Amino acid sequence: MRWIDGLEAAAAEKLPEAVHRYFRQGSAGGISVGEATTAWSSYRFRPRVLTDVSTVDLSTTVLGTRVDVPVLVAPTTLQRQADPGGEAAMAAGVAAAGSVLGVSSNAGTTFAEIGAVGAPWWLQIYVVKNRDITLRMLDAAVEAGARAVVLTADTPVVGRKEDDGPTVWDVIPPGHLLANLDADAYSEADLAKADDLTPDVIGWLADRTGLPVVVKGLLRADDARRCSDAGAAGVIVSNHGGRQLDGSIPTAQALSEIADVLAGTSTELYVDGGLRRGEHILAALALGARAVLVGRPALWALTVDSSAGVTRLLTDLGDELEHTMRLVGARTLADLTPDLISR
Ligand SMILES: Cc1cc2nc3c(=O)[nH]c(=O)nc-3n(C[C@H](O)[C@H](O)[C@H](O)COP(=O)(O)O)c2cc1C
Repeated sequence: MRWIDGLEAAAAEKLPEAVHRYFRQGSAGGISVGEATTAWSSYRFRPRVLTDVSTVDLSTTVLGTRVDVPVLVAPTTLQRQADPGGEAAMAAGVAAAGSVLGVSSNAGTTFAEIGAVGAPWWLQIYVVKNRDITLRMLDAAVEAGARAVVLTADTPVVGRKEDDGPTVWDVIPPGHLLANLDADAYSEADLAKADDLTPDVIGWLADRTGLPVVVKGLLRADDARRCSDAGAAGVIVSNHGGRQLDGSIPTAQALSEIADVLAGTSTELYVDGGLRRGEHILAALALGARAVLVGRPALWALTVDSSAGVTRLLTDLGDELEHTMRLVGARTLADLTPDLISR
């Protein structure tokens, strides 16, 4: 069995039951979370033969930052439940693998502590009803060296989770959530997600921060075009790991049409959701993604072996991608083109 395949079970032994359930669960009936990986596994390849694959290069750039492996860590909450070092430990693991970290705006570690680790990181932002909160958070992230703002666009309201028994919110200690704002100073109404956003928010975020803005949570080509026209430096095809609209299509299915509308624009294309193997990553890159992000596997790896676990996860996935690239006859990521995929 691959080390990656045993990670969730090993993490489950260390995590409180409510935390394990929170990490793994999807919203509502769990349809989208259940389909994500299967959808990547359904692609079939048309390998090239008689190409020189004696050297294979996995490096690329993401928004101008060089990465050694095109596998980034998606923003997720409650990392201090996985490891006492939380996001700082995640950042150290990412730095050692030569990748980039997404940091949740709900993070339980201050941006200053995360920034001090030295890994390149992108702030994920939920714009909330009281825009002062959002502005303060953006300023703090810029101050701490964030290299991009990732606007999560699929969460006008938080997807309903169906829990039996105590939820994670009943068991986590104070300080494991929202370490970057004085949550007690605001009401629940202030902190509620903004449900009136339009593409204009992209320019607002870019103007405030001077950073590239990436929109996360797209599943449609027309939305990708609207984001690109509004100045998005990137988009992440995502259904939030199946945690928002249940029954939303798998990202494996959405990716191609979005790649088609972004072709010829400067908007970079990323994808997450259910990617667990080199073959899945190869399919995503061949269909037009510049890099992929992994969410839950990074939480399991952080739980099991702290920073070293995160580094191993990213390098193992990179090794699998490299192996698969040799088998399809690709030497560089630029050689990964849609004709490698059978439709
Ligand atoms: C426990 C958990 C917490 C998450 N928290 C956030 C978050 O704070 N902001 C966000 O944009 N996405 C969040 N996500 C979604 C991830 O960024 C990502 O889209 C998803 O996990 C990718 O799917 P995967 O877990 O199958 O790799 C979260 C996902 C999980 C599993």
